[in-house]
Amino acid sequence: MTLIAIDKERLYASLNELGEIGAYDDAEAGVRGVNRLALTAADGAGRRHVVARMRAANLEVTIDRIGNVYGRRAGRDNRLRSVMMGSHIDSVPTAGRFDGCLGVLGALEVVATLDRAKIETERPVVVAFFTDEEGSRFGTDMLGSAVATGRLALEDAYALRDRSGATVHDELENVGFLGEADVRLTPPHAYLECHIEQGPILRASGMDIGVVTGVQSISWHELTIVGKSAHAGTTPMPMRADAGVAAARINLHLREMIASGRYGRDMRATMGAISPSPGLVNIVPGRVTATVDLRNPDDAFMRAAEADVIAFYDEAARAEHVRIAWRQTARTPCVPFDEGLQAHIARCAGARGLAHTRIVSGAGHDAQEMAHITRAAMVFVPGENDGISHNPRELSTPEQCAGGVSVLFDVLRLLAAEKD
Ligand code: GLV
Ligand code: MN
Ligand code: MN
Repeated sequence: MTLIAIDKERLYASLNELGEIGAYDDAEAGVRGVNRLALTAADGAGRRHVVARMRAANLEVTIDRIGNVYGRRAGRDNRLRSVMMGSHIDSVPTAGRFDGCLGVLGALEVVATLDRAKIETERPVVVAFFTDEEGSRFGTDMLGSAVATGRLALEDAYALRDRSGATVHDELENVGFLGEADVRLTPPHAYLECHIEQGPILRASGMDIGVVTGVQSISWHELTIVGKSAHAGTTPMPMRADAGVAAARINLHLREMIASGRYGRDMRATMGAISPSPGLVNIVPGRVTATVDLRNPDDAFMRAAEADVIAFYDEAARAEHVRIAWRQTARTPCVPFDEGLQAHIARCAGARGLAHTRIVSGAGHDAQEMAHITRAAMVFVPGENDGISHNPRELSTPEQCAGGVSVLFDVLRLLAAEKD
């Protein structure tokens, strides 16, 4: 296969252009950040921008009933199943310009490169972006791809609410992306996703490309801790039911679980949201809502860690005289990626002289949902600033991004040439 160069500048300019939609000046990070929380006006604007780009590239656009968007480029034999590339363009509220967007805009760059080189593929090629991959607004991550692949029922996804009570269904309608196409995807021939690593490993080891072996398991809990709010100056310590202290105990227990090493060296645990109520200096917090995020690359360790933390909720409740209710908001097992596709990625990276290594994904991705219905794989690129992500300082260079998209292009060409 002759190697064809993708347009590095055009790719990077497109990342910056989309990055201006929902942009804000982040005082703490000292750089411009992105806030395109799923199904907000900014996400709607980002969606319209990418759909316009799909149409300008002559892709046939389909929007399904959960707002996933597919742009299709015809192949020589359109009876063959397509090769799909994709990711997401929604963001956490304090994001950079790369998370998800590289996979979508990179896929559009692949299509533009095919067009410029006048390459007609045997199979159709589809560029996809999925609804609410982040889960920051409605509490469940990989929402659109989980519905498209059948893990989550459409009606359950529609009914999810954000903190203000708005539902996924109504917000899809409000942003104009409540499409009509059937949500259940016909399995594509294969699915490829290019993404930033979102961690420090590739950059620190001088690697250009990560061949992703799979995604670790993820478990999210939402806790509601109810004690009794009371005067901070007059309520004797033994008479308190302090929901804030109960949350703190659970958070420290997470640290103890990690420090003990009993769930492996690679477990991660985070209490990312802690909201005390009434949240005032002189009142014992009577209520706290909090979240727990557990990650583990080993399913058995994950199950044991979940049992441990759930048992500890009772212990913290007893110790602080509070009630603790919890519910699971997201749960995915470890998902391995297709070995044959991994080998293609490694070979294509090598052919371009790009240093590559196998790596496990610490973050969740749409590719893990797609892996339930087809062969799926991911190409990671390194990030600067220790690979920081979910932070406006997230940064991959034009060269790093182009490396990943070049590999995406080469593997796409191989797969789209395959006959049944
Ligand atoms: C998605 O970004 C995640 O939380 O892993
Ligand atoms: Mn992402
Ligand atoms: Mn993310």
